[in-house]
Amino acid sequence: MPVITNIEDLRILHKKRTPKMFYDYADSGSWTESTYRSNESDFQKIKFRQKVAVNMENRTTKTQMIGQDVAMPVALAPTGLTGMQYADGEILAAKAAEKFGVPFCLSTMSICSIEDVAENTTKPFWFQLYVMKDRGFIERLIERAKAAKCSALVLTLDLQILGQRHKDLKNGLTAPPKLTIPNILDMMTKPAWCLGMLGTHRRTFRNIVGHATGVGNMSSLSSWTAEQFDPALNWSDVEWIKKLWGGKLIIKGILDEGDARLAVNSGADALIVSNHGGRQLDGAVSSIQALPGIVDAVGKDIEVWMDGGIRSGQDVLKAWALGARGTMIGRPFLYGLGAMGEAGVTKCLEIIHKELDITMAFTGHRDIKQVTKDILYPGTF
Ligand SMILES: Cc1cc2nc3c(=O)[nH]c(=O)nc-3n(C[C@H](O)[C@H](O)[C@H](O)COP(=O)(O)O)c2cc1C
Repeated sequence: MPVITNIEDLRILHKKRTPKMFYDYADSGSWTESTYRSNESDFQKIKFRQKVAVNMENRTTKTQMIGQDVAMPVALAPTGLTGMQYADGEILAAKAAEKFGVPFCLSTMSICSIEDVAENTTKPFWFQLYVMKDRGFIERLIERAKAAKCSALVLTLDLQILGQRHKDLKNGLTAPPKLTIPNILDMMTKPAWCLGMLGTHRRTFRNIVGHATGVGNMSSLSSWTAEQFDPALNWSDVEWIKKLWGGKLIIKGILDEGDARLAVNSGADALIVSNHGGRQLDGAVSSIQALPGIVDAVGKDIEVWMDGGIRSGQDVLKAWALGARGTMIGRPFLYGLGAMGEAGVTKCLEIIHKELDITMAFTGHRDIKQVTKDILYPGTF
């Protein structure tokens, strides 16, 4: 077993242990993947200011996201098909998050259902909603999230149509995978993954199958999205959803200052500056580049969070310094999950926490709540 010291180590293990179609699904962006790449590379351009001879004892990264105590300002982002990266993946990730003290957000397009996760965890988790044409189904989904005592609804607004991801098309991505010769040959090289999958009955989109009526080809994400997701979604639907839900609402997928203002007007509790991890509009600005403008525009009126490109605790600190009061990580936790199941997600959170904590100390701080833009080197952000 290799010594794992950073997120890249987890990515390499994930790639080794998970069938190609699912690894590729995680580690890809749309079209040329330029936004996917700049999400990460724009973080690298931002530099810290080092401070010396300051007391570094008794440090804390604890804060709150929408009034909820968190061990650090990081939540696990909603990701589709997580139970295909590793058997029962959503349950395992939720357990790791719960033990670590950070929020877990379940995707509409998960393999384990809302009920599966609720039955296997003890603290409330968040639920991410995609809006479909069948409004009766959406009403029932929201009722199910309420019944499972989910403590926030994350409404994703940047995926009513699917950004084209070349790898998924070429791999013929489905859940479960079709038993074609190339898929069988690939799976034969991933025996632990196969054993795990044989040991669980959770192998399809369990929030949807058996709950939505008239579902066509459910196994293919792209055709199902094209058939069922509502391309006519607008801000009055957001109002309808807010009323139906009645609890904490988080708007995900904002990159534009005007849209940020509309999110404030919708009465949401937080917004997430996000380009869906570079998986939707290729060529869109990176999340970390969009963040300062949105914080300036609406930071006083709403909690602003961001996701996209975070690969270390240093990135979390940079986002915090630029005004994000919370962050989400997608691929980092998927790499951990694909590498080692629940222990891998825990490892991912430990790595990020340690990097965040040590970097905060080097910049002269002991409490993340005191950290401001001053820790960043002028001219680099
Ligand atoms: C494999 C994968 C699946 C995703 N599925 C969803 C989803 O179902 N719902 C959603 O709102 N966002 C989804 N996202 C976007 C994430 O919530 C998040 O915005 C993104 O992963 C952040 O970028 P990062 O992966 O660089 O951390 C997905 C991302 C990935 C990588």
